[in-house]
Amino acid sequence: MYNEINWDSIDLKQAPPDIEPQRQYYFIKMLKNWFDGKVKEKGRKLTCQVNTFGCQMNSRDSEKILGILKCIGYIQSDSENADLVVFNTCTVRENANLKVYGRIGQLKKYKVKNPGMVTVLCGCMMQEKEAVAKIRKSYKNVDIIFGTHNIYKFAELLAMKVLDSPDSSKMIIDILDNAESIVENLPSKRKYPFKSGVNIMYGCNNFCSYCIVPYVRGRERSRKPEDIIKEIEELVKDGVKEVMLLGQNVNSYGKNLENPVTFTELLEMVEHIDGLCRIRFMTSHPKDLSDSLIEFMGRSKKLCKHIHLPLQSGSSRLLKIMNRHYTKEDYLLLVDKIKKAVPDIAVTTDIITGFPGETEEDFNETLDVIEKAGFDNAFTFIYSKRTGTPAASMEGQVPENVVKERFDRLLEKVHNVSSKKSAQYLGKVYDVLAEEVNVQEDGYITGRMGQNYLVHFKGDKNLIGKIVPVKLCESRGFYYYGELVQNNK
Ligand code: SAH
Ligand code: SF4
Ligand code: F3S
Repeated sequence: MYNEINWDSIDLKQAPPDIEPQRQYYFIKMLKNWFDGKVKEKGRKLTCQVNTFGCQMNSRDSEKILGILKCIGYIQSDSENADLVVFNTCTVRENANLKVYGRIGQLKKYKVKNPGMVTVLCGCMMQEKEAVAKIRKSYKNVDIIFGTHNIYKFAELLAMKVLDSPDSSKMIIDILDNAESIVENLPSKRKYPFKSGVNIMYGCNNFCSYCIVPYVRGRERSRKPEDIIKEIEELVKDGVKEVMLLGQNVNSYGKNLENPVTFTELLEMVEHIDGLCRIRFMTSHPKDLSDSLIEFMGRSKKLCKHIHLPLQSGSSRLLKIMNRHYTKEDYLLLVDKIKKAVPDIAVTTDIITGFPGETEEDFNETLDVIEKAGFDNAFTFIYSKRTGTPAASMEGQVPENVVKERFDRLLEKVHNVSSKKSAQYLGKVYDVLAEEVNVQEDGYITGRMGQNYLVHFKGDKNLIGKIVPVKLCESRGFYYYGELVQNNK
């Protein structure tokens, strides 16, 4: 394991090893020495900031990047005026890209004052050739660019920059088109001490016709169950109570392993880990959600009562063009089965409006599913054209004013349905994992129910990281005000 590395045994007089992750440990050690020199020179430690855009995959990747930086010696800063700034980018929608360009531009002023500042770009947007070309041309303040397939190589790229060419304006760009093997045992710095994301697979094979993820994250690769279990056991030893198993479609986990394992079988193994209290997973593709998983959800003691089940559209006609492989009826049947197996489960979803060719009739089908499925919450998106995806060249792109008007109706529908749903939990007591001090209200803590709702309640900050019973008193959409139930056990 990473924690057990014997740093003294790494000999920097030798050439770097050719195997991973040992090669990266070598560069981390080299950078540690460089860092010590910098501390002497500047009379202070260097600072870093990692900015994350996009989904849980990126959040977990950022923890790995931060793990490497912390290991070198960097201290985390909450300002972009730092010695090293990372943007871990997302490209799922056009506006995600635009945000990044704006932010990199703003960094220029810091570099003028601090010429040794290192600017790093990584993540999904960097897998797009046009985006990288634009940055090369117009954002010369960027020092290092790498993609989604070689995050593990960050220490090596940083060493190339700060040790080999510290004063040059050369941009170091290292992007792979395909994933190599999965590199295990790299450091990571978790955002929360008591909960963690755990990648169980990378990439996606589904090619939904609107989506860029398979192009920027590559083909589906599952981690071996023994590596996943070992990582979770280590996390639990380190104080983690809740894990979220991450993949673009966790329901197809394990198919490409040498010894195939199903997602339900993996969950059974995770359930048996002593000391682990809560298990979540994200995301479930409806087409691959098995009966065995539903049955397991009904009997598991640790799985949280929440499922995120992206619908995308309620129109069977559009679902077919989206390449989703289920119909409106299949989806509703699935939700029904899940609710029967786990009566108080919260169901959330993702919905897109404005997909090419979406008619008023198609849109009404979506509204109908929202009503019938009774979602607890829905993330709603306006369709964004992603170059290279089949939908980008489809006829019938929906005019902006029509989409905007539908989007407003979508929000209203989701709001109505989810308010009804969240009222159902009121007055009852739920276990809440206390996560952080509520900065807006003095003396309040914010935690999360298994159903994923946030709950604000009066409590001491020493409760953070504990699972406590809270009575829900007042609903405010996707969060509640509650009261801690005194536990006399
Ligand atoms: N793998 C996950 C989704 C990852 S992307 C799944 O299949 O559920 C997260 C969400 O972004 C998707 O569910 C979809 O609703 C939305 N999305 C993806 N591509 C989009 C696009 N081109 N325009 C608008 N929304 C999009
Ligand atoms: Fe995109 Fe579909 Fe893969 Fe999800 S399952 S990441 S929506 S292609
Ligand atoms: Fe965005 Fe990449 Fe996630 S495109 S949604 S960060 S997989």
